[in-house]
Amino acid sequence: MLSYRKLKQKDLYQAYQLDQLCFPRGIAYSFDTFLYFYFYIDHYSLVAEENEGIVGFIIASIERNKTSQIITLDIHPNYRRKKIGSKLLSRVEEHLISLGVKNVCLQVEVNNTPAISLYKKCGFTEAKRLPKYYLNKIDALLMKKNLAE
Ligand SMILES: CC(C)(COP(=O)(O)OP(=O)(O)OC[C@H]1O[C@@H](n2cnc3c(N)ncnc32)[C@H](O)[C@@H]1OP(=O)(O)O)[C@@H](O)C(=O)NCCC(=O)NCCS
Repeated sequence: MLSYRKLKQKDLYQAYQLDQLCFPRGIAYSFDTFLYFYFYIDHYSLVAEENEGIVGFIIASIERNKTSQIITLDIHPNYRRKKIGSKLLSRVEEHLISLGVKNVCLQVEVNNTPAISLYKKCGFTEAKRLPKYYLNKIDALLMKKNLAE
């Protein structure tokens, strides 16, 4: 059965492996970066789990000025189009609202149609194009959502 819970330290390696599967080399985060996110930034992070295996996760930073950034949202290829990504995002947003966070942003590769479609469906809008954001050659979109609206 699929269940949702907070990301724990013991999940970091599995989350890292899933990220390697979801993103190309150079864009996927290193394991050290996962450790940095977990231990050094204020964050709210959830996993979707089935039979004790992580099938998806989300990491959202919480900044001092009551804004948040979706650092990553990863769903295992076998579990996509089941609304797991949308659910992780909406659960994070609910928590951010309870903390008084007003604005959430994220960066996404311009050609990442699945992610851009999901974010638009969930109320994000395109704010800006960021030239050569990934690997100094691929543009990103900066997307934003006002949680107060
Ligand atoms: C993008 C991603 C997180 C979507 O997760 P998901 O759980 O499959 O998404 P959902 O099932 O919640 O989809 C919600 C909506 O998003 C859109 N969407 C999702 N995947 C899509 C696809 N492959 N093509 C077009 N639209 C898509 C659809 O509108 C979908 O609603 P629908 O299924 O009723 O049409 C997943 O594909 C993934 O992990 N991709 C690789 C990592 C990544 O790019 N993460 C985002 C980083 S910014």
